[in-house]
Amino acid sequence: MSPRPARARRCQLSVPGSSEKMMTKASALELDHVFLDLEDAVAPNAKVGARSMIVNALNNLKWTPQTVCVRINDVQTQWCHDDIIEVVTGAGENLDTIMLTKAKSAADVRFVHLMLDQLEQKLGLKRRIGIECLIEEVEGMMNVEEIAACSDRLECLVFGMGDYSASQHMQLTSVGSTGRYPADIWHYPRYKMTIACRANGIDPVDGPYANFKNSEGFRREAERAHVLGMVGKWAIHPSQIDIAQDVFCPSAEDIATARKQMQAYDQALADGLGAINVDGVMVDAASIRIVQNTIDRANLIGV
Ligand code: COA
Ligand code: MG
Repeated sequence: MSPRPARARRCQLSVPGSSEKMMTKASALELDHVFLDLEDAVAPNAKVGARSMIVNALNNLKWTPQTVCVRINDVQTQWCHDDIIEVVTGAGENLDTIMLTKAKSAADVRFVHLMLDQLEQKLGLKRRIGIECLIEEVEGMMNVEEIAACSDRLECLVFGMGDYSASQHMQLTSVGSTGRYPADIWHYPRYKMTIACRANGIDPVDGPYANFKNSEGFRREAERAHVLGMVGKWAIHPSQIDIAQDVFCPSAEDIATARKQMQAYDQALADGLGAINVDGVMVDAASIRIVQNTIDRANLIGV
């Protein structure tokens, strides 16, 4: 198994692949990840044309975001295979990952995996293209454990609450809103998907929040996702980017505390102690794993 590349995914910006203007704007934005969409942001009669627009944008724009991805239509549509063939043939060297929508089973992801195997051989691509995958159908959520384990190209799963809420017949008003449900309506699916991701060494990512004028609501949802172990959240509008990049980044204070605890713990081990008191907090082998996660994230993000 080849190692998966480690990528920051604090924010993943969705950009309609049928909009040259928005793709040009997105190419100059400072954020971890963008995906150029061929799925729901593109009308059916514009999907075929959007493929070459995306190929042009990948080949001819200078991309500031670290990771550039193309989101394709799902395996039950007429578009999926040609989305992969045209985008990878046209711009495979300038593409980091493909994002599959509406995966229901491991077989759906394996289809994309095998298409990429074939295209990479045929085209002689030097870089391996990764897969990102939306969990947004009730079947996909039921099968999330087998999906998370099914491909060494798979780098992250995204909880897509828009389609998911439709698939489960939830009574909500806008994508990502939480309705009148008395508790956190996303608690269970986020938790379930995050466990499946972590058990397989891939990144759990939180999906969209459509009401882009409500920055407080967006921040609250990002914080909930962050606390339970997700690495980032989508943005559908540039105004959401800085909030997500901020929420999913360990704070300077967290990093300083982590480094202090790590230093004290290393010294304690040298002195033959397993548990110590650092500023009134017990530090031991378990808590140091949490601290190590913070340090690893800070190193990955470069802060
Ligand atoms: N990516 C890049 N640029 C974007 C953008 C995006 N997702 N959303 C908006 N912009 C740009 C606009 O083009 C505009 O640029 P300008 O100032 O140079 O004219 C600027 O940001 C401000 O946009 P605004 O006028 O506030 O919004 P809008 O009415 O043009 O667009 C949406 C609103 C929702 C239609 C648009 O944000 C969008 O299409 N988002 C993505 C939708 C999507 O991908 N859905 C599928 C995944 S859930
Ligand atoms: Mg969807």
